[in-house]
Amino acid sequence: MLVASNRGPYRFDPEADGSFRAHPGGGGLSSALRPLLGDPGVEAHWIAAAVTDGDRAAVRAGAVHAPDLDLVLLDLDPDLARLHYEVVSNQVLWFLFHGMFDLVHRPRFDHDFREAWAAYTAVNQAFADAITTHAPHGDVVLVQDYQLALVPGMVTDARPDLRVVAFLHTPFCGPTSARVLPTDVAESLLGSLTRVPVGFHTDRWARAYAASAREILGTASDPPTFVAPLGPDAAHLAEVADSAAARAALAELDAVVHDRRVILRIDRLEPSKNIVRGFAAFDRLLELHPEWRTTVTFVALLNPSREALPEYLAYRDEVTRAVDAVNARWATSAWQPIVCDTRDDFAGSIAALERYDVLLVNPLRDGLNLVAKEGPLCNRRDGVVVLSPEAGAYAELQEAVVEVHPYDVEQAAAALHRALAMAPDERAERAARLRTLAAARSPRTWLDDLRRTAGA
Ligand code: G6P
Repeated sequence: MLVASNRGPYRFDPEADGSFRAHPGGGGLSSALRPLLGDPGVEAHWIAAAVTDGDRAAVRAGAVHAPDLDLVLLDLDPDLARLHYEVVSNQVLWFLFHGMFDLVHRPRFDHDFREAWAAYTAVNQAFADAITTHAPHGDVVLVQDYQLALVPGMVTDARPDLRVVAFLHTPFCGPTSARVLPTDVAESLLGSLTRVPVGFHTDRWARAYAASAREILGTASDPPTFVAPLGPDAAHLAEVADSAAARAALAELDAVVHDRRVILRIDRLEPSKNIVRGFAAFDRLLELHPEWRTTVTFVALLNPSREALPEYLAYRDEVTRAVDAVNARWATSAWQPIVCDTRDDFAGSIAALERYDVLLVNPLRDGLNLVAKEGPLCNRRDGVVVLSPEAGAYAELQEAVVEVHPYDVEQAAAALHRALAMAPDERAERAARLRTLAAARSPRTWLDDLRRTAGA
C-alpha cells in the first residue's frame, strides 16, 4: 500500500549532533494513519513533500527514516512548492471548497495564477512520478486531499496496473462554485479525480462533487464516489489522557478555570472555523444571561496555521481583537472570560477535552471535524457538543448534539445558553449517546474502506 499526501506523517528536526529526529506531524490524516502503520497487513510506503526546513535538510542528508514505514519526502523546488501549496491549494481550492470567496473581489485568475497553476501541475507530476517509481505492480495507491487532485489522472495514465483511490478530507463545492474556476482548470481537476473512486467524510460532499463533475465534464452519469468518515483512535486518546503531560496540562487548566463551567473550542487558527463569530455569540450570551458572567470561562486552543498567507494573518489579528474586546467588556479582577492559548500541544488539548462542559464546533464548512468526535470520547463531565450542521461530523452526531447556526449569532448565543443550562440527566443521556456515535468509526474502519474500494 502506498499513501501520498502533501503533509507527511513525520517532520524532521536537526539535533545538536547533526542527526535528525522524526516528530509526529500535525494534521488529522497523519495522526489517524500513523498508529495503524506497522499493524499486521498494513505495510505502508508513504510519499509526502518536504515541508519544513528541517525536512529539506533531512532529505539532503539522506536522513529521512521513519520508525514504522518506508517514507519518501520530495525535496521540491521552493518556488514551485510555494505556488502549489499557498496559491492554488490554499488560496484557491481551500477557499472554493469551504465557500469562503467574496466573489466581488476574489478570486482573480490572472497571469500570476497561470504561473501558480503550472507549479501545481508540476508538483502533482513530481508526486505521480515518485508513486510510479516506488509502487510495485498492482499496488494500492491512496491519494490524499486537494493538494494532489491531478495525481489520480497522471498515475492512472502512466501505470494502469495500479489500484488508485483518492480521498478528499475537505468539503466539495457544488457546480455553481466549481464554475468559478477557469474552465480548463476545473476540467483538469475533475477530469483527473473522476478517473478513480473518490471518497469523502460525508454523503453531502460526495453529492456536490458528483454534481460538479457532471456539469463541468458534461457527463450524464455520476463518477464513482464512496463515503468513509474517519473516526477517532480511542486507544491512543486514552493513552495520551493518562500521560504525565496531559495530567500536568489539566492541573494547569484547573488552576485557571477553578470550578467554573468551561466552553471549549480547539481549532487550527483558520477562517473556515468561524472563531470570531463564536466569540461574538459568547459576548451576546454574557449580555443576555448575567448568570454566566464570572461563572463560565471560554477556553480557546487555537493552533497557528498557514501563516505565510495574508488571509490567515489578518484572521489571526481579527481573532485577537475579538478576544480582547470581550475580555475588556466583561472581565473582573478574578475572572478572565476568554482564555486563549496558541501553543500547539496535543496532550494539553486532550486534557482540555476531559474538562469541557460545552464543546463549541461552529465551522462555516468543514470536511469532518474530528475534534467533535474526539471530545465525547475524552470528556469526563457529560459535556454538551454544540455543532454546526456544516461540519461533516454532523451527519453522524446530529441526534445527540445541540445545533449551532454558523452565521446566526443570536441563535448561537441561545445554543450556548441551552447547552450550559441543560439538566444533568439530559446531559448524561446525550453524552452517552455521543460516545457511542463517536466511537462507531475509527482510523482502522476508514482505512479498510479505502482499501476495500481499491480492491485490496
Ligand atoms: C486539513 C486538510 C489537510 C491538511 C490539514 C493541515 O485537514 O484537509 O490536507 O494537511 O488541514 O493543513 P496544512 O496546510 O498545515 O497541511
